[in-house]
Parts: sequence; structure tokens; C-alpha cells
Amino acid sequence: MRKNHVIDLNDLSKEQWEHVVALATRISKDPQAYSSYCENKILATLFFEPSTRTQMSFQTAMLRLGGSVIGFDNPMNSSVSKGETLADTLHIVSGYADIIAMRHPVEGAALAGAQYSRCPVINAGDGGHLHPTQTLTDLVTLSNERGSLDNMTIGFCGDLKNGRTVHSLIKALCHYPNTTFVLISTNELTLPIRFKEIIEASGCSYREVYSLEEVIGSLDVLYMTRIQKERFASEELYEQQKNVYVLDQKKLDLARPDLKILHPLPRVDEITMEVDKDPRALYFKQARYGVYARMALIITLLESQSNDPILHGKETVHCCKNPNCVTNIETYLKNTTISSGTTEFCEYCDAPIELN
Ligand code: NCD
Repeated sequence: MRKNHVIDLNDLSKEQWEHVVALATRISKDPQAYSSYCENKILATLFFEPSTRTQMSFQTAMLRLGGSVIGFDNPMNSSVSKGETLADTLHIVSGYADIIAMRHPVEGAALAGAQYSRCPVINAGDGGHLHPTQTLTDLVTLSNERGSLDNMTIGFCGDLKNGRTVHSLIKALCHYPNTTFVLISTNELTLPIRFKEIIEASGCSYREVYSLEEVIGSLDVLYMTRIQKERFASEELYEQQKNVYVLDQKKLDLARPDLKILHPLPRVDEITMEVDKDPRALYFKQARYGVYARMALIITLLESQSNDPILHGKETVHCCKNPNCVTNIETYLKNTTISSGTTEFCEYCDAPIELN
């Protein structure tokens, strides 16, 4: 584990996250039994980007564990508006709180912040990059509602380019035998190369398709996602992509009777409301599992001791070309890369680094 931080779910070993999933399941059966686990502990929620579920489920989780919550959900009400660096914000807040959950619009922001924190930092979403606690929520949902995480054919549909929940869940499911990924998107919103490489290296398989109708009948799980409007360079580009994928009753009629439909929410129009009453629609239940997943993660991180280094990559003089990478915004950070095959990827945002 990177110190005690969870920036990527892969900061935990598979055994460690399965322990968290099992704990979440136990908590869901008797939440009252855990109601004083975090007495005298403080969670800080630093939300530099809008959120309903993630922020409130973190707050609910800490309050249900008997702890307290501080934080902001509008950075303009904090010293960030005066130009404070991420490093200083984390340095200060980690002197007040015992654990921090942080969401930021910039990719790699949680990894950057963790380096200046004295307490565990949980990545609650960094731009279009990763969202490990949504993945824990998804794993808790699937293991409770499907029984097993092995031998799964899972379709990811929508914005696979900018969907951080998709990236994180794919990374986790690569650790399970015989996962088949069906990547359903337009050409403009395909999964970034880094995550395809991770699938290939794991021995799992993927195929990329355009049509949801053509593949829905082959899926065990369908993970629908919102087109991430806020990550598009222009309104015009977004307009071209919205409404391409809509799950309605007609398409659902082509699916298997035991299909599990997940969505991290919020939805815009990619699932019609008629689908909500279908027993295969699990997304509202999934949001409820999110509280137990976060309760289990908070308990685990506050109990664990790890002195592993925070950065794993090697330093480079080459800058990351992703304009939304934290290294291009918080310019005091050193660039580091991770090698995979013949390619080097930025350790903060996973973009390929050009070496010449
Ligand atoms: C997701 C997110 O913020 O990435 N929502 C969530 O955390 N439940 C998905 C989204 O915003 O589309």
C-alpha cells in the first residue's frame, strides 16, 4: 500500500481489497455494531469538483462510524481561491484531520496531494482518471448481487475515454480469472491505450464495438455511464456524442434474465426511467452499498500501517503532454514515469510520455 493512501485501488493488494469488500458486506448486515469505531476521529472531505453520492456517502460513512466530518465542497470558500497550492492545502488539512477524501478536476491531483499529507488520502475522483472508491462500491455490489467476481463478461457502455469509474473498475477486474471486457463506445470515446495495455498484460480479453443492441444478449453485467460533458473541449463536441447510447425496455428485452445493470450515477438520459423497475437494474442499490464500502475502507485505512513509498515511478526530465495533468498545474511536482512494455506512462495521469 502506498503509505496508507488509496489513490488507485491497486494500491491495495487483491487480498486487501477483498478484505474491505467482505467487511463492507458484514457492516451492511449490522451497521449498528460499527457505530463507535471512529469515535474521536475526523474525516476531511476536500471536494474541488461537484458531487452528490461520493461526498455524502463518505460523510454518512464517517458519521455512522461515530466520527466527525470537516471540509469544503466549494474550493472558492477556501484558501484555494487565494492561490494556495494543493501541497499546502493538504499539509494544513492533514494536521487537522485523521483521514482525507479528496475529489479534484485535475488528473493525478490525489497522488500529488498525498505526498504532502500526514494522514491517509483517499482519491474520491481525479479528473477523468480514476475513482477507486466507486470501484469498491461496484465490487461490493457485484459480489453481493452476483455471488462471484470470476468468469464475468462485462460490457462498459458510453464515455470510456473520460469515465474514471470505468478505468478504475477495469483495472480491478483484470485481477479476476476469465474477465471478458466488451467496450461499447463511439470512436471518439474509446478506452485510453493505457487501460487496454493493462487488460492485455493481465491475460484478460477485450473487444471494442459500437452497437449496444448487438452485444447486450451476451453480457453478465452492463455498466452504463454518462457522457462526461465537463471533460469535453467544447459544447459542440459534446453535442455530437450525447444521446448515442440509451438503455430502454426495447434493448433490455434482448438481454439475459440474469443481467446485472450498474451505473455509478448521476444519469442524464442514458437509462430511461422505465428500466428502474426492472429487477435487473441495480444502480440505486449500488449507491447504497457505497456507504458500506466507504465505512469498510475508512476502518481499514485507520487501522493499517504502511511505509511503502508514495511514488513508484522513475524521475524524468520529460514533461507530461496532458494539459489536465497535475504536473502541468502544480509545477513544483517532479515528473515520474512508469514503464509498460516499450512505452512510458506519466505516473500521475497515465498519459503516454513522448521521450523525444
Ligand atoms: C461518477 C464520477 O463522479 O465519476 N459519479 C460518482 O462518483 N458516483 C460518475 C459520473 O459523474 O458520471
